[in-house]
Amino acid sequence: VARDRVVAFAPGRVNLIGEHTDYNGGLALPFAIAAGVSVRAERLGEPRIEAYARDLDERDEFALTDFAPADGWRAFVRGIVHELQAAGVPVVGARLLISGDVPRGGGLSSSAALEVALCLALLALGDREDEMPPRIEIARLCARVESRWAGAQTGLLDQLASLYGQEHAALLIDFSTLRIEAVALSLGGWRLVVVDSGERHSLASSGYNKRRAECRLASELLGVPSLSEAAPDDLSRLPEPLRRRAEHVLLENQRVLAGAQALCDGEPRALASLLNASHASLRDLFEVSSEAVERTVGDLLQAGAAGARLIGGGFGGSVLGLFAPSVALPVGTLEVRPAAGARLLAVPATA
Ligand code: GLA
Repeated sequence: VARDRVVAFAPGRVNLIGEHTDYNGGLALPFAIAAGVSVRAERLGEPRIEAYARDLDERDEFALTDFAPADGWRAFVRGIVHELQAAGVPVVGARLLISGDVPRGGGLSSSAALEVALCLALLALGDREDEMPPRIEIARLCARVESRWAGAQTGLLDQLASLYGQEHAALLIDFSTLRIEAVALSLGGWRLVVVDSGERHSLASSGYNKRRAECRLASELLGVPSLSEAAPDDLSRLPEPLRRRAEHVLLENQRVLAGAQALCDGEPRALASLLNASHASLRDLFEVSSEAVERTVGDLLQAGAAGARLIGGGFGGSVLGLFAPSVALPVGTLEVRPAAGARLLAVPATA
């Protein structure tokens, strides 16, 4: 049955712990959140895409057979269409209505949510349900859009979290095998919040790609395929700052395992200490914090958070805090908990 209308939703994510480990073949522990992006797609009957981003009140329009790269949110729409076609998936002409409630550039993966929702909507509209690519391939395709169309050479953290998210669970992801294991996230009344540092970040223009290049160079110098495979004793052979970068990655991987263990053992206080240690490492060894982020982390701790750290790529974005049950949540924070991953929604009758 050909579908004329579909609605796809993809969530943003919070990464509990495991930052800058994904592109280093390491470990991370993200979860999908309730906020996300939805894309309503309607068949057009002409080989064109007409897209409208409701929150921005901006439009884009291009022919499926011939289009150039563009900036901002348009980069993702054009990129997804191109990469789907390049992967041999026929894309049908469509009118797209994009809306969402993940703050853009706030470190909660608004761009991955947009990519994944676009991808699912276009795949479903193209009536490829029986031959939908595996979700892992959708994640890879979306990451190609980040690097080729939006200029950020990201790993797969955000896309996997958005695609595989589960209610009540964080995802322990091993990026060397892409194995994903759900870890129940019940904190016994402790709460996780995010707060925006107020500093917008764009991965493409921040130091993100530079960090990635440093890690690549460090692993080349050590002769290992990825930094996570480096022997701790070998790190002293690296020049600074590469040694610091590598040390962060190895220690962060260990903190991810310890964090998953803390969840299994029901030890939120242990998790809180790991968040603090992760932040210190991101600030001092990986050097991706900023003044605004430091202020935000400081404010959260001051307000009684047991642990706080920057999440995502850094250089701005959001900060995560963990609060004991007895402590009131500060004003301006958003409580977050694991929510279901990307999916098609029922199409409203009036759509
Ligand atoms: C961004 C990237 C991810 C990951 C994180 C840092 O969110 O998109 O791939 O590298 O930064 O952990």
